[in-house]
Amino acid sequence: MYVINMWLDRVSDPVARSMWMIGSTSFAMIKPDAVQAGKVGAILARVQEAGFEIRALRMVRLSRVEAEAFYAVHQGRPFYAELVAFMCSGRAVAMVLEKADAVAAWRLAIGATDPAEAAPGTIRKLFAESKGRNAVHGSDSDETAAREVAFFFPERELALLDGPVAG
Ligand code: CMP
Repeated sequence: MYVINMWLDRVSDPVARSMWMIGSTSFAMIKPDAVQAGKVGAILARVQEAGFEIRALRMVRLSRVEAEAFYAVHQGRPFYAELVAFMCSGRAVAMVLEKADAVAAWRLAIGATDPAEAAPGTIRKLFAESKGRNAVHGSDSDETAAREVAFFFPERELALLDGPVAG
């Protein structure tokens, strides 16, 4: 037990965790439009084919307050109300992805925000309906990734996924 607690304390330490995460981790989300359209499996296949390791994954249903908080950076922009309403309109899938240079790699894999401008073969080109209903989300920086991962996944839960067997 002592050893397990030592290990959990080390991984939960903010400095150790940020060193573990920075550069190799992105937060990702499959948005309600793609979940509703039955595209979760197809998108997860592309995630793995693109070489990302799925470190954590959970199906979620955001409350209005949670959607507002997650997208607080966009508060005041003309699309904010629509974005919040859409993000809490149904289930989403939250993920922690790992790969070298994960934030840039995931943004490359999903393509431009507007599917009309996304490169061929990208996830948004293949699965998104519009700029607002654009199938997937990706962090825009390492700092944002750390904040977004923490928003959905408690540190202790992430530590347990990779730790010694519990109980
Ligand atoms: P996402 O990568 O999740 O980050 C913010 C989201 O806001 C973005 O994807 C889009 O879905 C949405 N968004 C950005 N610009 C617009 C816009 N002009 N109109 C509607 N939604 C937008």
